[in-house]
Amino acid sequence: MQTVRGSCHLSVALRGVTRPIVNLQVSGQRRLPLHLRAVDVQAQNRETSQATQDAAARETMFNRIAPVYDQMNDVLSLGQHRVWKRMAVKWSRARAGQRALDVCCGSGDIAFLLAQAVGPSGEVVGLDFAQDMLDDASGREDERVPSVMERSAPMEWVAGDALRLPFDDASFGAATMGYGLRNVTDIPLALSELHRVLQPGASVAVLDFNNNPNPLIDGFQEFALANAVVPLARSFGVAEDYEYLRPSIKRFPSGAQQEQLAYAAGFTMAVHYPVGFGLMGCLVATKSGS
Ligand SMILES: C[S@@+](CC[C@H](N)C(=O)[O-])C[C@H]1O[C@@H](n2cnc3c(N)ncnc32)[C@H](O)[C@@H]1O
Repeated sequence: MQTVRGSCHLSVALRGVTRPIVNLQVSGQRRLPLHLRAVDVQAQNRETSQATQDAAARETMFNRIAPVYDQMNDVLSLGQHRVWKRMAVKWSRARAGQRALDVCCGSGDIAFLLAQAVGPSGEVVGLDFAQDMLDDASGREDERVPSVMERSAPMEWVAGDALRLPFDDASFGAATMGYGLRNVTDIPLALSELHRVLQPGASVAVLDFNNNPNPLIDGFQEFALANAVVPLARSFGVAEDYEYLRPSIKRFPSGAQQEQLAYAAGFTMAVHYPVGFGLMGCLVATKSGS
């Protein structure tokens, strides 16, 4: 990984951030006749180029909403997102002295909480592919009050792809991901990358909206998104960027499906907890201890 370190602990993985990111595994390819193989490769190329475009579009969108992102979260959740993020950090079991990772860190809310959890003897890395989000995060780091800084771990901000984490195997004692899994173009790959970089016995807590199968909660969520979230986003000039929320939640695996995906990624324990009256959810997945 090529990195550039700035004065505010900003490190940038150059670049390949929007590289092709679909899972290219094609089982039994060698047994296929040549003309069928050619067809498969073309289909893969189409899929790869679609995923690349999707990832690039999302990166652009998150850079665009970065200036209003924190304010929107506070207003829309009535400040509750701070409580849910604290719960995620607790569920990650981040402890004093550990090196912890926050993937899709955005402007750094969860990374800052992790930094308090692991304390001055620990270390926190926040990773995101939207540079404007990372700039906000590192700016906020400089603004922290001295008493909080003294109790917090040193932090590093890395520009990189959740689907190709630029870290060694088993290099983190805990990890978090807030509102990121729904946005990646390959969820199984994102989970297997998290599994790879965690140490044996370590956990990741993945907080996001919940694709709740309960029709009452789902109906309320649909109503709230259409009648509160999108209109508010309109007043911030980012309505179009928030219209994607509902379809992205409906496409997102349910809690039970997320547990299955975590097992398939190699985790030996996976539990999805409903949060915020079931509107949100947190997948807690633990890597085998041996
Ligand atoms: C909704 S924001 C969440 C930010 C923060 N975790 C929070 O909870 O407030 C999602 C973040 O995921 C990042 N993201 C989405 N896909 C990514 C990927 N493949 N690699 C790295 N970051 C990604 C976006 O840039 C964005 O900052």
